[in-house]
Amino acid sequence: MKRFVKRSLVAVVLVASTAVSAVSFATPPETAPAAAPKAAPAAPTGGNYLLLNEMVLLNKAYRDIISAVVLEDSKGVVDAVEGFETSQVVQMTRDAFKAGKIKTPKNPERMKEFEGMDRDFHNNFDKLRDYAKADNRPKIRYIAKKLLDNCIKCHEQFRK
Ligand code: HEC
Repeated sequence: MKRFVKRSLVAVVLVASTAVSAVSFATPPETAPAAAPKAAPAAPTGGNYLLLNEMVLLNKAYRDIISAVVLEDSKGVVDAVEGFETSQVVQMTRDAFKAGKIKTPKNPERMKEFEGMDRDFHNNFDKLRDYAKADNRPKIRYIAKKLLDNCIKCHEQFRK
């Protein structure tokens, strides 16, 4: 109960401070100097846009996989893996990669290494699908955990 009250207070304070800043935003003082136009943040271009899209999709697929694993729903695991692997974004990213159009935000000069990690990752994804099709639950759990290590390792090296 106490905790709930505390949280509600925090929420009220947050709402109040947002309201205050919204008001001051709406009525700038007459004397305010004209703001210099800000450059828009660079959007990822070309292949990198694809990579980011693939990651967003992968993020969702992996969440679905974790839910299915903990609920012992092997069919759910198969569906999540196949949904990801057959998606157009994954095919397009693969083509862009082959064409040399993908550069990672960090360590872009180490694309060979990135390729190896990506291959490892996709191999584990394939294994997961096969174990899930066979309803081999101990192996499904084992690979699902290994996949998490794949995400973290690659991000350490290649994601800013
Ligand atoms: C082979 C390397 C590699 C693997 C494996 C990998 N990622 Fe990524 N991921 C990246 C890179 C590189 C980026 C940054 C892309 C960019 O900003 O252009 C990224 C970005 C992301 C993002 C977007 C974050 C943001 O900045 O908005 C998410 C979400 C994500 N990855 C989730 C995952 C999950 C979940 C896994 C494992 C199931 C995974 N990734 C595995 C390389 C990888």
